[in-house]
Amino acid sequence: MQHPSHLQGISLVSLAEEFGTPLYIYDGEKIFNQVKSLQNAFSAAPLKIKYATKALSNISVLKLIKKAGAGVDAVSIEEVRLGLMAGFIADEIMYTPSGVSFDEILQAVDLGVMVNLDSIPLMVRFGETFGGKVPACIRINPHIMAGGNYKISVGHKESKFGISIEQLPQILKVVKTYNLSIVGLHIHTGSDILDAEVFLKGGNVLFEAALQFPDLKFLDFGGGFKVAYKPGDIATDIQVVGQAVGEAFQAFCEKYGRQLELWLEPGKYLVSESGYLVVKTTVVKETPTVTFVGVDSGLNHLIRPMMYDAYHDVYNVSNPGGPIKEYTIVGYICETDTIASKRQLPEIHEDDFLVIKNAGAYGYSMSSNYNSRIRPAEVLIWEGKAHLIRRREEFEDLVRHQIEVDF
Ligand code: LLP
Repeated sequence: MQHPSHLQGISLVSLAEEFGTPLYIYDGEKIFNQVKSLQNAFSAAPLKIKYATKALSNISVLKLIKKAGAGVDAVSIEEVRLGLMAGFIADEIMYTPSGVSFDEILQAVDLGVMVNLDSIPLMVRFGETFGGKVPACIRINPHIMAGGNYKISVGHKESKFGISIEQLPQILKVVKTYNLSIVGLHIHTGSDILDAEVFLKGGNVLFEAALQFPDLKFLDFGGGFKVAYKPGDIATDIQVVGQAVGEAFQAFCEKYGRQLELWLEPGKYLVSESGYLVVKTTVVKETPTVTFVGVDSGLNHLIRPMMYDAYHDVYNVSNPGGPIKEYTIVGYICETDTIASKRQLPEIHEDDFLVIKNAGAYGYSMSSNYNSRIRPAEVLIWEGKAHLIRRREEFEDLVRHQIEVDF
């Protein structure tokens, strides 16, 4: 794996010095190229990409995604609004909520955004309110166990997401009762999915169900392509998936004389590898058994290692040479927030800059103010220029909404 000291000719160390640490840095070219490679891989089918905004929702990133030719998938009304702010028209936004209040659904419809209905009660309420006047999509739970770990496997039988494929007769009954206008069917089986097989299996569930819906305009296969986190990790071969799924899709359309679009909702695939979290070491602490390196960040800025036991590659950009030693990199939060355990790295000193890779997806977007810490700044590099796209928070941001009681 490459460990870049520069992105598009700009030194990571110089950015860390200019904007301070911790600092999220995104390589815009990488994001743009990922959109293009996906479009290429699925060129056999009429593809629409709906970027899963939840992975990284900075407005400038959304604008870049738009420039590359993709739309967005939003999971909250706030993400819908961010999409609109970034310049997407309502038609380019898909709203895929999970068990939200009906008020949010009304707001989305009001904004002209397609709603992905994820329960039978929601279908009923939607039907009672709009009848067949507002086109919608249905999220099917395909009963497929897939994903990097249980927490991010969401298409299996026990998952809260979508409407079980076994409930298709009930779905059809509600559609008929309210004369619903169903223009799309959707599945999303999970995150970190390696094999084309899973997407083909999901496709078969969609194809089978699609036969019951004559007015469909698209089938949405969700996201979940795996990226390489660990050295030696294999990522989803997007060409293989694109060709296999694209061809199966076209064969289905031809066989049944259907004119459908194929939709995808990738998050990680588009933004994970573009992101680098640069942190500064605060202490090198030797114990009888472990050499800990403390850094000025933690689970408040990147929770993936603690939440999913996720592996993130870490390198020392200040001192790439030097003798190799074993280190355990830990955050400054008052929890056991181990970022990287027992890694062989060139000698680390206090005040070195370490870079945590693959931090683009579910990094900043899952960050918090835990331990009353502020969130970092974000920088986007585009055409050889570094753009500050979010200022570092300040202490005032922590207390902005608090109301003091005098005792
Ligand atoms: N579509 C839907 C309906 C989703 O729920 C998700 C992710 C995606 C698309 C995008 O999946 P992706 O291509 O990024 O794998 N925080 C976890 C991942 C949770 C994903 C939640 N849903 C992580 O950091 O691994």
